[in-house]
Amino acid sequence: MSDKIKKLEETIALAKLGGGKARIDSQHKKGKLTARERIHFLLDEGSFEEIGMFVTHRSTEFGLQREKYLGDGVVTGYGTIHGRPVYVFAQDFTVFGGSLSEMHAKKICRIMDLAMQNGCPVIGLNDSGGARIQEGVDSLGGYADIFYRNTLASGVVPQISAIMGPCAGGAVYSPALTDFILMVQNTSYMFVTGPNVVKTVTHEEVTSEELGGANTHATKSGVTHFACANGMECIQYIKKLLSYIPQNCEELPPALPYEQSESEIRPELNTIVPDNSNTPYDIRDVINGVIDTDSFFEVHKDYAENIVVGFARLGGKSIGIVANQPAYLAGVLDIHASVKAARFVRFCDCFNIPLLVFEDVPGFLPGTDQEWNGIITNGAKLLFAFCEATVPRITVITRKAYGGAYDVMNSKHIGADMNYAWPTAEIAVMGAKGAAEIIFKKEISEAENPEAKLKEKEQEYLEHFANPYRAAERGFIDEVIKPEQTREKLIKAFKMLENKAVKLPRKKHANIPL
Ligand code: HXC
Repeated sequence: MSDKIKKLEETIALAKLGGGKARIDSQHKKGKLTARERIHFLLDEGSFEEIGMFVTHRSTEFGLQREKYLGDGVVTGYGTIHGRPVYVFAQDFTVFGGSLSEMHAKKICRIMDLAMQNGCPVIGLNDSGGARIQEGVDSLGGYADIFYRNTLASGVVPQISAIMGPCAGGAVYSPALTDFILMVQNTSYMFVTGPNVVKTVTHEEVTSEELGGANTHATKSGVTHFACANGMECIQYIKKLLSYIPQNCEELPPALPYEQSESEIRPELNTIVPDNSNTPYDIRDVINGVIDTDSFFEVHKDYAENIVVGFARLGGKSIGIVANQPAYLAGVLDIHASVKAARFVRFCDCFNIPLLVFEDVPGFLPGTDQEWNGIITNGAKLLFAFCEATVPRITVITRKAYGGAYDVMNSKHIGADMNYAWPTAEIAVMGAKGAAEIIFKKEISEAENPEAKLKEKEQEYLEHFANPYRAAERGFIDEVIKPEQTREKLIKAFKMLENKAVKLPRKKHANIPL
């Protein structure tokens, strides 16, 4: 018996070495952690249970029958993060460059199936040279098996993808199907075709980092939600992200114990919006002034900065925030901002996270670039996402709510539960100058001093509409509140909406304008 136990121990030790010491050293030299180290830091101490440690490939092509590694390039299993169960896979670059074989894919699929059956998040730590080239179509089939599961799991359990090394070719589509992508600066990249193919086809000279590094995808494409400084920061971000979201679509997000303070009044909110309505201010000051201290976790921070999205806590409860950012392009809605916000709204709605919207938006961005690239279809995504969302939804209009953007930004008309406005709110079809130029065109052109007339009419329009009271008269705004009252009002209103239950009409699925 002891011989057999010894053999088992030796086999386990061999499996834990992956592709061997030299390749582990090489991984470290590149500034990367190994698959097992990543899992160790991600999960609660001692909680990891590995599944499929002895799985090997069964390929015989190109001499592969002579080269087998226990685990076949991916470490899979389950454990806990802050005491909550999660399923995890980590690709092991030391084994065939973490490339995906038939058996490697089967291990990942098993984890995904278990996560679905047990209603728990799946976390994938990706570090792979793509399809195991020696395996051909078996590997491609393996990818498709994963894509299929990613899609079925979407909206059922949260799926998080960390890109901690290469991720190229069709391999990028599994992370793209998941809810959140995190990338590590300088050691990870994602692209459909690499720099060499790009050079051949388009004659562009570009490095891997420029083409598909973390910063590129965090700022230009929006493919990644987070660009992390290193592997450890990436792991910390995953843990933080999970702290705001529930285990599955049937559960509520975890709440932190919260003791109501004596007063929820925040006088500092009264002085954030400048007197001149064209002067920018940072909407994050409003967000941070309202939510629980230091609880804002911004998503997609460096992409489409004219809209700010992220998770926060209010009275200990998790909420999703969508806010126009007047400090960037005056907070205008464009294609990227609409898609960014729509995706976030849909995630929150999938996973029972109430939505809070701060609105200060001059409208949709005009221009050929926007029109030709489809601001109509893309703006409609945000509209659709809000219309469809059944979680508690509250809007606070801090300043501008102009035109179609008023409707789109979680107005009462499209299903928001409560709309508050600050006294600085301006709710109208369009800005005063543009409006005056159109409706008083004749009067202005015939005036002795057209410029003065325009100013006068602009003022008239401003007095008439640049306030929240017209909308309040109609009940489109439920209450005009002092900024300092915002936190108190929101805590109460979200509590009032805790048991909200809305049923959408029966359908197979909706047809969001993609
Ligand atoms: C088999 C692979 C491999 C792969 C790397 N290796 N990629 N083995 N299949 N796809 C092996 C290498 O042979 C090497 O083995 C070890 O992994 C480390 O690779 P290196 O090249 O030494 O490492 P590095 O210099 O860091 O370069 C990493 C790399 C490069 C950039 C990822 O290996 C590379 O370009 N690989 C091929 C990428 C690729 O074209 N993949 C297919 C994409 S198409 P030894 O024994 O020396 O340690 C695709 C389609 C998916 O993925 C479609 C899904 C729908």
